[in-house]
Amino acid sequence: MPETSPKGLTRLAFGGDYNPEQWPESVWREDVRLMREAGVTMVSAGIFSWALLEPARGEYDFGWLDRLLDLLHEGGIRVDLGTPTVVPPVWFYREHPEALPLAADGTRYEFGSRGAICHSNADYRAAAANITTRLAERYADHPALAMWHVHNEYGVPVSACYCDSCAAHFRRWLATAYGTVEAVNEAWGTAFWGQRYTAFEQINPPRTTPTVGNPAQALDYKRFADATMRENFVRERDILHRLAPGVPVTTNFMTALSQCDSVDYWAWGREVDIVTNDHYLITDGRRTHVNLAMAADLTRSVAGGAPWILLEHSTSGVNWQPRNPAKAPGQMARNSLAHVARGSEGAMFFQWRQSRRGAEKFHSAMLPHGGTDTRVWREVVELGASLDSLSTIRSTRTQADVAVLWDWHSWWAQTLDWRPSEDHDPRERADAFYEALYDRHLTVDFAHPEADLSAYPLVVVPALYLMTEAAGNNLKEYVENGGTLVVSYFSGIVDEHDSVHEGACPGALRDVLGLTVEEFSPLLKGDTVRITGPDGSELTGDVWTEFVVPREAETVWTYADGLTAHRPAVTRHRLGEGTAWYVSTRLDAHGLDALLGWAAEDARIAPRADLPHDVEVVRRAGESGTYLFAINHSPSDAKVPLEAPGTELLTGERAAGRLEVPAGAVRVVRLDG
Ligand code: GAL
Repeated sequence: MPETSPKGLTRLAFGGDYNPEQWPESVWREDVRLMREAGVTMVSAGIFSWALLEPARGEYDFGWLDRLLDLLHEGGIRVDLGTPTVVPPVWFYREHPEALPLAADGTRYEFGSRGAICHSNADYRAAAANITTRLAERYADHPALAMWHVHNEYGVPVSACYCDSCAAHFRRWLATAYGTVEAVNEAWGTAFWGQRYTAFEQINPPRTTPTVGNPAQALDYKRFADATMRENFVRERDILHRLAPGVPVTTNFMTALSQCDSVDYWAWGREVDIVTNDHYLITDGRRTHVNLAMAADLTRSVAGGAPWILLEHSTSGVNWQPRNPAKAPGQMARNSLAHVARGSEGAMFFQWRQSRRGAEKFHSAMLPHGGTDTRVWREVVELGASLDSLSTIRSTRTQADVAVLWDWHSWWAQTLDWRPSEDHDPRERADAFYEALYDRHLTVDFAHPEADLSAYPLVVVPALYLMTEAAGNNLKEYVENGGTLVVSYFSGIVDEHDSVHEGACPGALRDVLGLTVEEFSPLLKGDTVRITGPDGSELTGDVWTEFVVPREAETVWTYADGLTAHRPAVTRHRLGEGTAWYVSTRLDAHGLDALLGWAAEDARIAPRADLPHDVEVVRRAGESGTYLFAINHSPSDAKVPLEAPGTELLTGERAAGRLEVPAGAVRVVRLDG
């Protein structure tokens, strides 16, 4: 059995990407001295070092890495060692130009950035396996080695290549998946627009077409591209397992970032020994701590509830968004500890020392250009001490209250062309429902639609357009057995091939919701509809409406105006022991809160009205005890009720009754008992 936590790491992970090749060796000693000062426990090294390690084909230079690892080891710092396969050296590309990926429109990407890889290219695969083997042979027994960091963020910046080699691999993938070309025709609905194939050799990747191409082909290509990247990960992982048994292998995910929607992390989570994640605040005016919590919950869910590690986030601003604000004082610690609350075994950063050159010189780091006499450095040192005081939480698990269904295949299908409205953004719905649950102080587990949901009193389906029959049956069984389900519009529409389920929509959910949808009727930009509730209350919807026909369901809220006036907007279906809610329009935050309030009552989830707004309260529990995290994102001091007295670990003080959490502060109480 491979290890599931970094070898030899006895504290929480604290450190960052360490790129010492950007600095003269004379700086390295100072780096290690300062790492010790900050309480760094682990760094990720060598991620982009292939060009230095193999300067020409078959010529290796490991001397510098030997010296670096020895130095880190002397300093007591564990190493998460990269396989540098995300950036092959230029000599490799000049020998194998076809290893550079081809865009759908035939443009060949050039060397000079990173991640320019055709994942089905045989030369790339061989070269990646070779450098991985060399590294594993050399460092398997190095005492600093804690884990392997394969590649970097599979799926960004390019996930799919459209070259001839990929075409050949795609055909083989299709032959394995479908057996016959007739089965492909059937699944893809090629009778439409005369797209019928008579041999696998005729099938190409979904390259640029004059107008919309076959959606099922595009969907399968996403699956193929994901599987091809995963195959490459697994090849490297198996080499590392074979040559360095006992050292866990990871690759850094980006679970909740919409830019990285090309990877099915449910599948990847099963392949890594430790789930690790990178998370950056998206500073687009929304509440960044909510997206952070969502990313952390999703990462933990991908890890099957097990502890995971935040491998990258930023100490302050990043440099790749249109506007990159610095973090406010205290925000870095809040961000870090919010990840820890939701299951991370530490907080690591991109990167240790801020670069002077290259594309990321304006990205913050643990050690800024300004050195140690800086606010960021002082906060880094403080965070190191805070994490040290939380060492005993390792291996405990975050406790969740409700589940939200999530499926990357459905995301892929929902981003295909020609839908009823471009204003329906499924990711926006997922974010909005998550935020509404967050504001009710409910901790969320994400779950695959076919997963066992029986542990959750409430399951929310924000936008799952693609849903298999098996998933539909799963939800029906969940409700029949007493669960409460909330489903948002345009869910359960198509099967795994993007074919509309037979009969009236929403095919996969008709039975559990007790209704049919006759027509979708999206609204024009800026238009809204009023909906009225049984007590006369009024809510507003926009973007989407539907002609809903209740069958067994009862109508709870009704459209008051628009094309769908007097028809059901929100329905409720009592089925077996449980209840299924359906909402056919886009509710704002106020509307979602009302809907979730009713559903929470059905699910017998007591409101947490005693918890102040924007104060995050999350629990981790395990053999070493129960830990209550209270993170105050608000500008006011807050009080959080404690169910038992305990010790606050960051201040060392005893706490009982109502825990004081100053504005912007974090408190972590180990409860007695
Ligand atoms: C990550 C990446 C790092 C660095 C960082 C900057 O996605 O893995 O290498 O580029 O972004 O925010």
